[in-house]
Amino acid sequence: MRQNDMNSLWCLIEDNYNVRNNRKYEGMFAQGNGYVSTRGVFEEGASDNSKDEEYMNKAGFVTVQGAKETKFKCGTYVPGITGNHPHLNEEIINLPWFLEFKVWFDNECLDMEKCSIDDYKRWLDFRDGTLNREFTWNTLSGAQVKMEYRRFLDRNIKNLSSQEINIKIVKGSGEVYIEAGIDGNVKTNGYNHFRDLKCLNIENRYIGLEVVTDNQNKICEASYIKCDKGFEWNIEKRENHILYTSRKAVEEGNKFVIRKYTAITTDRDLEVGNVSPLDRALNVIYKVEKESAENIYERHAKIWEERWEDSDILIEGDDKSQLAVRFSIYHLIRSCIEDDPRVAICAKGYAGEGYYGRYFWDTEIYMLPFYIYTNPKAARNLIKFRYNTLEGAKENAKRYGYKGARYPWESSIKGDEECPLWQFADNEVHITADIIFALWHYYSATNDYEFMVNYGVEMMVESSRYWVTRVDKNKNGGYDLLGVMGPDEYTPFTKNSAYTNRMVKFNLNKTVEFINVLSAMDRKNFNKIRNKLNLIDEELELFREISSKLTIPYNKERKLVLQSEDFESFADIDLDEIWTDRNRYFVQFISQDKMYRSKCIKQADVLALMMLFPQEFTNEEIKNAYEYYEPITTHDSSLSPATHATIAAWLGKEDEAVRFFNKAANVDLSLETDGAAEGIHIANSGGLWQLIVHGFAGVKSSVLEDTLKVQPKLPKHWDKLQFSITWKSKRYKITINKDRSYSIEEKLN
Ligand code: BGC
Repeated sequence: MRQNDMNSLWCLIEDNYNVRNNRKYEGMFAQGNGYVSTRGVFEEGASDNSKDEEYMNKAGFVTVQGAKETKFKCGTYVPGITGNHPHLNEEIINLPWFLEFKVWFDNECLDMEKCSIDDYKRWLDFRDGTLNREFTWNTLSGAQVKMEYRRFLDRNIKNLSSQEINIKIVKGSGEVYIEAGIDGNVKTNGYNHFRDLKCLNIENRYIGLEVVTDNQNKICEASYIKCDKGFEWNIEKRENHILYTSRKAVEEGNKFVIRKYTAITTDRDLEVGNVSPLDRALNVIYKVEKESAENIYERHAKIWEERWEDSDILIEGDDKSQLAVRFSIYHLIRSCIEDDPRVAICAKGYAGEGYYGRYFWDTEIYMLPFYIYTNPKAARNLIKFRYNTLEGAKENAKRYGYKGARYPWESSIKGDEECPLWQFADNEVHITADIIFALWHYYSATNDYEFMVNYGVEMMVESSRYWVTRVDKNKNGGYDLLGVMGPDEYTPFTKNSAYTNRMVKFNLNKTVEFINVLSAMDRKNFNKIRNKLNLIDEELELFREISSKLTIPYNKERKLVLQSEDFESFADIDLDEIWTDRNRYFVQFISQDKMYRSKCIKQADVLALMMLFPQEFTNEEIKNAYEYYEPITTHDSSLSPATHATIAAWLGKEDEAVRFFNKAANVDLSLETDGAAEGIHIANSGGLWQLIVHGFAGVKSSVLEDTLKVQPKLPKHWDKLQFSITWKSKRYKITINKDRSYSIEEKLN
């Protein structure tokens, strides 16, 4: 049954329209179905704002890459459909705008900013991914029109979008005019990726738009509109724009339900076969034309229900946190393409054009745990993406003069380096080891041996080969990793970054460990792999040696893990003096040159290491690290607060944990900052999930523990916490009570 209750624990509600916040809500209200994502844009857009403006966008320093400030920004993204931007390299393409539905009453154009609007409400229902809007329009001609909108991207028929618009004439009479179409006048970051565009009037009944992109992908969008009584539809072609139009005299008491269905297809779709995108789109439309709207909705909603069954987190006693956590989980579910290993999840969760649709370590270290423990099939797919891009990683290593595979910092869909700024591309090498950590994380939680044998081991060996050529031998017979940027992007050239070195050791160790298991227990596969990869014993010996000789910089007197061997040599600066407005990024107050040689940290670095390997440090060491690094950490990256909250929770610093929890919860929900304007900070969404599960519930990851264990550190004001975990193919429900008593029950079904 359709959800009608606008439940405040399940719905993000906007009840006051303010143009200043529009783009932020567009990001927050993004919808997606595991195939396509769209921003939560008004169907009518804004009458004085073009979506087609051409402008120059150049790469800036990551944190402050300036996006064009527009009133609204339509966005339709099919992961994998990318093009080449002249300055930014490969980027995801914003596809033609298919949700368009414009209304005029007695020649007055409906515009949220300019018209007289009462009782405005817009809400995204996380339970079924439906975006709803309602308001009353007091027209200039004296009529009152109640408008209701509802739309969703179908989780069952993944190429389908359903829109329902209800128009009720509450008072007066007049003439309604509607334009509802597909508009190809759309740019991505100010750039036009469409090379060929055709508007189609199909049998005077359906409309379609075919596009060929600069990468030669073929895209089709086809719509069908229906209204059981009343409106007669004409089809009109304009420049790059095809639309239905209709004009009708209306009277008080008239009610109309209009439905617009759109099919979106591309030549990259998995099920493409020999059928063209246009024929596939039309097949979808022909099918739904005969179906009842209720049936279509029910099948869609059932899939959302199943996802929530496996991934919901229930928090009792703190409604605000409850909503924020469900908001994050909603976006994690929405942005994941569960069955296509040719793509992963981009850093803005396909809710905007920030970071250009590229893949970072965000996926492996911040988002992946959510999928590993709630939807292992989706997690497998994400790791498989890195296997599928191994050739790109090998090319990347070669380009830098190394052996093996070096994963790019900002990956394209093929695994090429797309980062336009050299210091990140060259130095932020931890990404390669992060991917192997994630692979092992997945393996340890699922026991998916088949995946390891067929794909994982190759990734491990090739990445290890890269590290062998990337380290330098020092005069003491040990090895150093020089010229490295760890997770903290404000110290670009360091010697032996603690985080990076530990991850590299893990990479090398686990490679040796897995090969040893194969050699001892599975000779057939061992021989196969040895032959395929030309693996020799001396190589394994070298992996072992480097792993044992790479050091984690440590100050014995202070019992302090050093971020890097040279961290203490950087200049001390007074953050308070420089950073006069903490609502803005620190980086906006300091030159890059000064920042790069000073002790100021962008995001969790040593603490990120401790989050992954807590058992390797004493409580005192974790506390020392927290107390030393946190005051000089700017949290300019949204990846930072959730990690700090987790460590604070472990240390029993409850107030700090709650403070950082709130910071993480507000990254996208805040209206004070840019929030979700350029997309969802989806790594933070994953971080928030980890903070609750690993931090407040104290579940140890499967990399650390063989059995599922809980060590609650619930904030005092929470009455109950409940969630599900999939662990080694079994599903469990974990309940933690206010007094920190808990139960772990196996879920049977
Ligand atoms: C962070 C990186 C992150 C990237 C994408 C940057 O601001 O410093 O750690 O991978 O954003 O989210």
